[in-house]
Amino acid sequence: MKYALIILSCVGLAAPTFAEGDIYMGQKRFTICRTCHGTDGMGLESVGTPRLAGQKPYYLKRQLLNFQSGARGKTPGDDFGKMMRPMAMTLPDEQAIDDVIAYIQTLSAD
Ligand code: HEC
Repeated sequence: MKYALIILSCVGLAAPTFAEGDIYMGQKRFTICRTCHGTDGMGLESVGTPRLAGQKPYYLKRQLLNFQSGARGKTPGDDFGKMMRPMAMTLPDEQAIDDVIAYIQTLSAD
């Protein structure tokens, strides 16, 4: 019993930090994203955007933070990254990032 509790608390610790993402707020934020990433978040070849739907939340978050910090989207010649960087800037704080990712998770994964 004692061990079961320890295991359960470890599972709790490993849970993603996105649980608090607000899907409704995320949906509103995703309105602008749709124009480039497609209504279903599957990416649009005509714009050169990647698929977001079905992508791992921790990875999406890392990339959004990378665009915000300039680790992506600032290098000369990174024309696609430069398209995305100002879009990441429309997400004012970590809550906004978690919200939009919570919504992306509701989109089709296949
Ligand atoms: C003006 C068009 C445009 C809009 C609007 C846009 N994006 Fe992007 N996004 C791009 C492009 C182009 C890339 C690919 C950049 C590259 O090749 O490095 C990208 C890449 C990404 C990536 C990285 C994916 C990966 O696999 O590395 C994420 C995450 C992302 N966008 C999320 C969003 C979110 C969330 C929004 C809405 C807030 C949004 N994008 C709005 C054009 C856009």
